[in-house]
Amino acid sequence: MQIEVISDSEEMTQNIAEKYAKSITTPTVISLVGDLGAGKTTFAKGFAKGLEINDLVTSPTFTIMNDYKSGRLPLYHFDMYRLSSKEEAEELGFAEYFDLRTLDGVCLVEWAENVKGLLPALCVEITLTKLSDTKRKIGFSVKGWVK
Ligand SMILES: Nc1ncnc2c1ncn2[C@@H]1O[C@H](COP(=O)(O)OP(=O)(O)O)[C@@H](O)[C@H]1O
Ligand SMILES: [Mg+2]
Repeated sequence: MQIEVISDSEEMTQNIAEKYAKSITTPTVISLVGDLGAGKTTFAKGFAKGLEINDLVTSPTFTIMNDYKSGRLPLYHFDMYRLSSKEEAEELGFAEYFDLRTLDGVCLVEWAENVKGLLPALCVEITLTKLSDTKRKIGFSVKGWVK
């Protein structure tokens, strides 16, 4: 099942993400899917706000992962853009974040498709599609238990 919403602006994408984050429980792994500039990091900023994280959320492109511990739940924001396999992520010590038995918060993962097999079978997929300069389609679906 997929739920779709249309966002008309950067602010609206952040508001949708902020509201969604308020209902999140731990452990949860969320894959953010979409082209460069689709709004994945923008969504992450709003999501962090919804978890009551007041730190400045920036793209983890160079650090691969930024963690935020000041909110309602720990948030681990990944950008796998520069990685090319699950093994590479494991060598960097990231496997523990994707084991639902040990994860103590929420993982938001950009470019998870670069590290296929790393994410747990059960996860949420949020797909952002650019419809125009300011319009985005945001699709929410749960992977792992629905076919
Ligand atoms: N409705 C919208 N939702 C999200 N971003 C939007 C929207 N309209 C325009 N934008 C712009 O698109 C860009 C999205 O960038 P970013 O969130 O970094 O994308 P990504 O992380 O997917 O590469 C930002 O410059 C933002 O201002
Ligand atoms: Mg990004």
